[in-house]
Parts: sequence; structure tokens; C-alpha cells
Amino acid sequence: MNLTLKIWRQQDANSKGAMHTYEVSDISEHMSFLEMLDVLNEGLVAKGESPVAFDHDCREGICGMCSLYINGEPHGPDRAITTCQLHMRKFKDGETIHIEPWRAKAFPVIKDLTVDRSSFDRIIQAGGYVSVNTSGNTQDANAIPIPKADADNAFDAATCIGCGACVAACKNASAMLFVSAKVSQLALLPQGQVERKDRVMNMVDQMDKEGFGNCTNTGACSIECPKEISLDNIARMNREFLIASVLPE
Ligand code: SF4
Ligand code: FES
Repeated sequence: MNLTLKIWRQQDANSKGAMHTYEVSDISEHMSFLEMLDVLNEGLVAKGESPVAFDHDCREGICGMCSLYINGEPHGPDRAITTCQLHMRKFKDGETIHIEPWRAKAFPVIKDLTVDRSSFDRIIQAGGYVSVNTSGNTQDANAIPIPKADADNAFDAATCIGCGACVAACKNASAMLFVSAKVSQLALLPQGQVERKDRVMNMVDQMDKEGFGNCTNTGACSIECPKEISLDNIARMNREFLIASVLPE
């Protein structure tokens, strides 16, 4: 396949960026999208030009690092996958592909297609943890009975990989799908009860401080989420927040 790539290049957060045009040729349909960018970068380096900066790590849909806005969609045209799991067979020979970084005030551009998602880390630090009894009387977690439905819902919420596609997809740059998944996975389990009310208050407070927008029930976040995190989690977080507000500890 021969392709034209229109890629956002930006030196750093304070520089003005612009779309640049590149041609790549002999791209196999079996390559992943990131491998196609590797081919582009090898060519740029060979010509003495600066390679395009983009985030990646595991390249198997686990870490949440890859984060490209491809033809107007986070993680590209496919559903329930990350950018590293997107294959070039989803594109046609001769196609022009537009590649941009996640765009949100709380995700400033570091360079080119790489954004700073440390705002997510600070939200986790505000409450995404559980107390552990280290007194010597620690109970084996497998010995605590948990209703099957709760275990399943907690597991589904825990599959969130923190990629930020939900924020990028949202017209309000809301992080509520991400935060609600992290609140839900702990609120549903016995281990998460100790900090339950503080957790939701503190994580929502940090989310607001980071500059994320609010949810207006559009649902784009869940559609673009590579792990298909459900909007039910946002409803659960709203309930958790209301209860914690009305009945604080
Ligand atoms: S909710 Fe989905 S889109 Fe948002 S950070 Fe988690 S995995 Fe990524
Ligand atoms: S590089 Fe890890 S999820 Fe894509």
C-alpha cells in the first residue's frame, strides 16, 4: 500500500503546531498502525530529519500508552481496540490518513503526537487505592465471598487501561468514564469499603482541578473506549458521589 499521512507536528507544549504531509510506500496490510509509523520514522531518520514522536509501550492492548486520533477517531476506525491493535488492512491503498494527538486542556502536548496524561495519575493518587491490613491478621482475599454480579462488574470496570480515549472522544473533554471505572471497581468490592466515600469525593475533586469537562451523556466515550467500559459506571459514580455528599462519614 502507498499512503499519504497528514501528521500533527509540534516541538513542545509552548510551540505552535501544524499538520505536515508525508508519503509512505510498500506498507503491508498485515502491519500494525504503529509499525507503519516505525517505517515512516526509519525513513525520516535516514534522511536526517526528526522522527515523529508518539507514545507506545506494550503494543498488545494492555498498557494504554498508544494514543492517536486517526481520521477523527481515538484509536482509529475499528471498535474495541487500541491504536497498537489497529492493522493497516483497515485502510485502502492510496488513502490519506490524518493523525493527531489527543486534544484536551488536561492533556497538554509534549511533542508531536505525545501528550502528558499525568493528570490521570494524580486522580488515581487522590483515591484509587485500598487500605491493606498488615497487622498479621490479613484475610486471604479469595476467602471473602463476593456476589458473582458484583465480581463481574468490578472486573469489567478494572479492564480500563487509562488510555484517555474517552477524554479525546468527548466534546467536553470529560474524564468521567475513566474516573467512574476506577471508582466502581473498588466500590463494588469489600476491600474498597474503607475509603469508599472519601475516594469518590477526592477523585472527583481532583478530576475537576485538572480541568476536565463535565459529562452531558453523549456516550462517545464508551463507543470509542478500547475496553468497552460501560456508561453504567458513570451512573454508579454519580450515586456514590450523591451518597457521600449527603451522608459523609
Ligand atoms: S475508560 Fe476506556 S477510553 Fe477511558 S481511559 Fe479507560 S480504557 Fe481508555
Ligand atoms: S502500546 Fe500498550 S496499549 Fe497500545
